[in-house]
Amino acid sequence: MTQPACRAPLLAPSFLAADLANLQAETEMLGRSAADWLHFDVMDGRFVPNISFGLPVLQAVKKYARQPLDVHLMIAEPQHYLEAFRDAGADIITVHYEACPHLHRVVQQIKDLGCRAGVALNPHTPAALLADIAADLDVVLVMSVNPGFGGQAFIPSTLQKVAAVRKLLHESGSAALIEVDGGVSLANAAALVAAGADVLVAGNFVFSHPDGPLQTLANLRAHLAANQGI
Ligand code: DX5
Ligand code: ZN
Repeated sequence: MTQPACRAPLLAPSFLAADLANLQAETEMLGRSAADWLHFDVMDGRFVPNISFGLPVLQAVKKYARQPLDVHLMIAEPQHYLEAFRDAGADIITVHYEACPHLHRVVQQIKDLGCRAGVALNPHTPAALLADIAADLDVVLVMSVNPGFGGQAFIPSTLQKVAAVRKLLHESGSAALIEVDGGVSLANAAALVAAGADVLVAGNFVFSHPDGPLQTLANLRAHLAANQGI
């Protein structure tokens, strides 16, 4: 059995909170940072009440990215855009459970494109709904805020949700990673890892911290190493 609390979690800063007028510099800076994945939030104004950025911006970032691009599709009907996101540089593609009536097909499409496949759960969506697809997944993304905006407050019940996903993955024999997204900071990171999180997305905490993103990512990494198993 895996021992989540003993593994070093992956850190995935979110571009949504970066300086979008300087994406080359931001991407190169993250390339020198403690980041393991680069999280790229795509919002369409339909699935979520906000619009962010999409294919041409991902393509631009890809030119300078050193880490895998973790593309979080907060869009309706994502099946129409999977190949385009792969071609633009996505390494991991995550779709929302709530946006996919034919989720199994969508997950297979992502894998057939050669990408790792993730499914995201909104805060109200129970972990148990993934039971029949867990073994096919590379990533389960647990939303710890309602998707659509950066800088929102972390929803505390996420800790139980992460533990429930961890149990479900174990029972399904799934090696999927558990990613947590929304309001992640030093205040909850170690508890999330202890509950079973493998990947922590952080936007505002990393980019708005007075210490700057490089130091903040390094501090987060050190904090997690010092607090394993709490
Ligand atoms: C929210 C996005 C998140 C967001 C996280 O809809 O999916 O990835 O960028 O930002 P923070 O860490 O500021 O909550
Ligand atoms: Zn996200």
